[in-house]
Amino acid sequence: MHLKTIALTLFTCLFISCTPEPIVEYQLIPAPQNVAYTNGVYSFDKETTIAFAPALESEAKLLSTYLTQLGCEVSLAPNAKKGDVVLREAADFKPERPNGYKLTTHADGVEIVSNSANGVFNGIQTLRQAIRSVENELQIQHAVVTDYPAFAWRSFMLDEGRHFKGMAVVKDLLDEMALLKMNVFQWHLTEDQGWRIEIKKYPKLTSVGSYRDSTEINHFHSKVFDGKPHSGFYTQEQIKEIVAYAAARHILVVPEIELPGHASAAIAAYPWLGVTGKQIKVPCYFGVQYDVFDVTKPEVLTFFNDVIDEVISLFPSPVIHIGGDEVRYNQWSASSKVKAYMKKNGLKSPAELQVFFTNNISNLLASKGKRMIGWNEITGDKINHFQSDEDTKLSQKLADGTIVQFWKGDPKLMVTTAEKGYDIVNSFHEYTYLDYSDESIPLSKAYAFSVIPEGLSKKHEAKILGLGCQMWGEFIPTTESMNLKVYPRIAAYAENGWTLPSLKNYDRFMQALPFFLNRWEAAGKKIGAIESPVKEEKK
Ligand code: ACM
Repeated sequence: MHLKTIALTLFTCLFISCTPEPIVEYQLIPAPQNVAYTNGVYSFDKETTIAFAPALESEAKLLSTYLTQLGCEVSLAPNAKKGDVVLREAADFKPERPNGYKLTTHADGVEIVSNSANGVFNGIQTLRQAIRSVENELQIQHAVVTDYPAFAWRSFMLDEGRHFKGMAVVKDLLDEMALLKMNVFQWHLTEDQGWRIEIKKYPKLTSVGSYRDSTEINHFHSKVFDGKPHSGFYTQEQIKEIVAYAAARHILVVPEIELPGHASAAIAAYPWLGVTGKQIKVPCYFGVQYDVFDVTKPEVLTFFNDVIDEVISLFPSPVIHIGGDEVRYNQWSASSKVKAYMKKNGLKSPAELQVFFTNNISNLLASKGKRMIGWNEITGDKINHFQSDEDTKLSQKLADGTIVQFWKGDPKLMVTTAEKGYDIVNSFHEYTYLDYSDESIPLSKAYAFSVIPEGLSKKHEAKILGLGCQMWGEFIPTTESMNLKVYPRIAAYAENGWTLPSLKNYDRFMQALPFFLNRWEAAGKKIGAIESPVKEEKK
């Protein structure tokens, strides 16, 4: 061979052997705050060891389940410092915001470190998405991920009052939430159309209140009914099981018990809870009902106290949701007894009575070491068309420390509510209601949601705890009909809650989505519409 040819061949061989494999970037939802890639991949052996300190046993066990599902054989190495995957809690690790973590992948494996078990768990969710299968081998690109949540409150709400779903569905949702790093499961357990939580002191709440004869179908005011009875509720033992399942996934379960409206099922069980005292049936049709609790009767207040005590014994959440939305004031306004109570307490409008009552509940919760959250009607702002200006005249002030879940009204009200000092969960219906069709909230619109409302000054931004997305239950009788609404939009809300707004990028999000599309498809979930990425207009 000619000398020149030999040299060229040698050079080419050297070049090829030295050229590193191209970096394969992770496709993650929610997008992490920072990833620095380096050359090289780590390949998992047939047998993967997970090293962890005893405090991280629960996280290590879940990781082992996840890796087993990917096809790895896993052995747990408690107290070991070395392993293919090392989970480490270190007090001196200081994430930018609580529950952040650092995930490092290098030649010897993967390390996830945080100063909290929750942070380590978040890192594990990143790891699950970063591993890819290449020719039957599980690999992960070398990188350092430095990550933390933009917002502390990243919730998904399930309304089971309208349609009961049951343990398996709830656990499945909690699994999906965990992978998406969503951390609050708002469990809407009581409604006009059904009471779904066992309260031992008041058994008729479930023996009567969890059952209805038939259900309105198609759409609101259709007056078409399916003619089939609907029922279901969670026993206290089942609730404890769900709370523990969620806790293992670092998800807080916030129970929602609707007061003083959305109360028909409870009143059907115990008519003395209502203003009229008349026996009613659990409604079969949807829309805002007229029957509301009589919040002026001492025995009704005792009932609330008893229910709250049982609820608190089941849910360790520091926050309890009391509903507060869409209270029709007709029955209060028509009742001479309620009017006399209002006069005695200097309350000039039904909205004042609602705030007065809500503050009493807030004080009651505070006396039991709990904080109250409610829909933004609890501020007394007029946001419902069925309330007159006269109804909503207000001189009462909502108790300090209350968390306001903003769902309706001019978003400027969110700004003024934050300026008054209240913490807020942004659940603005136009962007976050999963019962809305995907024509009305397409995936791109769900993604474009801004958790921080327009016009809020920097100094009040911390008042926005985060966001909620809400799966209202009127027209989702089956799991399949629910999945069509929840997926894929839940992924957009997850990213809105976790990823700093400045790092959001819809094209990148869409590129990462196939991991989830494959997962949901493999689980047999039928999902809602996915549009192609929005192309920027060329100027
Ligand atoms: C609500 O949608 N009624 C909070």
